[in-house]
Order: sequence, then structure tokens, then C-alpha cells
Amino acid sequence: MDINVEVDQYAVVGNPIHHSKSPKIHGEFAVLTDEKLEYTAIQAPIDNFSGAVHSFFDQGGKGLNITVPFKEQAWSLSSQLSDRARLAGAVNTLYQNKKGEICGENTDGVGLVRDLTVNHKISLVGKRILVLGAGGAVRGVLLPILEQNPASITIANRTVAKAEQLVELFADRGELIACGFADLNGPFDVIINGTSASLQGDLPPLPDSIVSDTTVTYDMMYAPDKTVFNRWAESLHAVQTFDGLGMLVEQAAESFYIWRKVRVDTQPVLAMLRAFD
Ligand code: ATR
Repeated sequence: MDINVEVDQYAVVGNPIHHSKSPKIHGEFAVLTDEKLEYTAIQAPIDNFSGAVHSFFDQGGKGLNITVPFKEQAWSLSSQLSDRARLAGAVNTLYQNKKGEICGENTDGVGLVRDLTVNHKISLVGKRILVLGAGGAVRGVLLPILEQNPASITIANRTVAKAEQLVELFADRGELIACGFADLNGPFDVIINGTSASLQGDLPPLPDSIVSDTTVTYDMMYAPDKTVFNRWAESLHAVQTFDGLGMLVEQAAESFYIWRKVRVDTQPVLAMLRAFD
């Protein structure tokens, strides 16, 4: 694909990509900050992600967001990784340094933490946190959550061995516990759903005792209607339930900052996306 080099070029790469909200979000960021840039969507061939990335940068492209299913491949092709991205095992933001090397960053965890702590004013300091799931999405957000100094993070997963692997990987960064859903002993202050069960409208088999009337829940996925997980939490009187739209906008804002060194006010963009859903 040929790109226009008159204006700084950015894009999101995935497969499929037509559903991505990133071009709209970054387009709004550019307007709000008066930054001159174009942000498009690129569908890379499943078997040639690397070719698509190199072609984009070879033609003068400035930065890429990476989405499903390429975040792990983006991690592998990065010449430089931040500490956060290295531990996440996945990269959602690429740029080139002055030497022309491709650098990888992961802004998903920062996006989640900023949405919870800044947008929703939920402090994670000293909290008992439960994270559901132990796949790539969860691994990608653990370090920024741990950096908030919670009392503990329990990782519960259908396949307990995967939760145990994550606990081992992050063991020196805080208090972590791995278990299966049936072993959960609640209630928890904050429950973050990072399973892909949500995408199919499924609910993992969770004991009701993990939710009390002071529990806050966060579903990392978003949908126009309340997710099954958040509806279940509400039925158990969770005090607040949030979806992942704010995380999507905040991870984008962090990528925008990495590329442009400009902080954007995310509130108007969040309001716009909510209004259109
Ligand atoms: P992602 O990149 O979205 O994290 P992934 O790496 O395939 O995708 O991980 C999916 C996560 O959702 C896993 O924790 C998976 O549990 P397993 O490790 O046991 O497979 C979890 N998951 C998917 N469908 C689920 C379901 N129906 N019930 C419970 N957990 C589910």
C-alpha cells in the first residue's frame, strides 16, 4: 500500500480491521490538539504482518498501533522494548527511534489503570484485586496494575496452569495468587474481567461470594449494551460496573503521547463514542 508522506502518517494494523475504532479516536485527537496527521487502518495479510510493518515505515510512516492477532508478532519484531512491553509479551504501539530501529511499547495496561483511577476515580492502592483470565490480554495489563501497589492480585483462570505461569512471571513485582474459579474466596474490592468469554457473551462459572456491595467491576471488553459479566455483578449489587471503552480511548491517548509528545483531553472523545454506540 502506498502512503501519503506530505502529512505524518499513522495507522492501526490488524486482521480483520474494519471494526476498529482507532482511526476515529486518533482522528478526533488530531482535531482536538491541532496536530497535523493522518491515521488509517491497514489489514495485514495473516502470513505477512512483518512485511506490512516494514513497508509502512520504509515509506516514511511515523507510528503504528497493533491489534488482534498481531500483538505478539509486533513484540517479536521490535528491536527495542520498554520494560512494560517486555513483560507484557505483546506490543500495541510501534515507532522508530533516531537510528531507525523499530521500538515496541504496550499502552493497554496504562490505559486500563488511567480509566479506572482518573476517569472513574477508583484507587487501586491497597486493594484486593481479582483478575479473571490468564491470556494475552491479562498479561498485557498486569505490570501497570501492580505499579499501583494493590494489597494483592488474584489471577483466576479456567486453566489454572496459565494463571500460575503469570504469577511466576510477575512474582517479584507484588503479591500474586493463582487459582481456579471454584477456589475463589471473596469478596474482592475490584474485579477485572480479562477473559475472552465476554466476546461470546459467556460468563465464567464464578461464585457469587466474590462480589459484595462495595465491589467495583471492570470488563476489559466493551459493547453498546452492558456485558454479561457486568450484568451478573449488578445482580449481586456491585457498587459500580465499567466496560472497556475508556481503556480503549486511554490506551490510544498514551500511544498518541508516545508519538506526538502531546497529551489529549480524552473526555470529549469518550463522550462522542458513547453517543454513537
Ligand atoms: P486474549 O488475547 O483475549 O487474552 P487468549 O490469550 O486466547 O486471548 O486468552 C483467553 C482467556 O480467556 C484465557 O484466560 C481463557 O481461559 P483458558 O486459558 O482456560 O483457555 C479465557 N476464556 C476464554 N473463553 C472462556 C470461557 N468460556 N470461560 C472461561 N474462560 C474463558
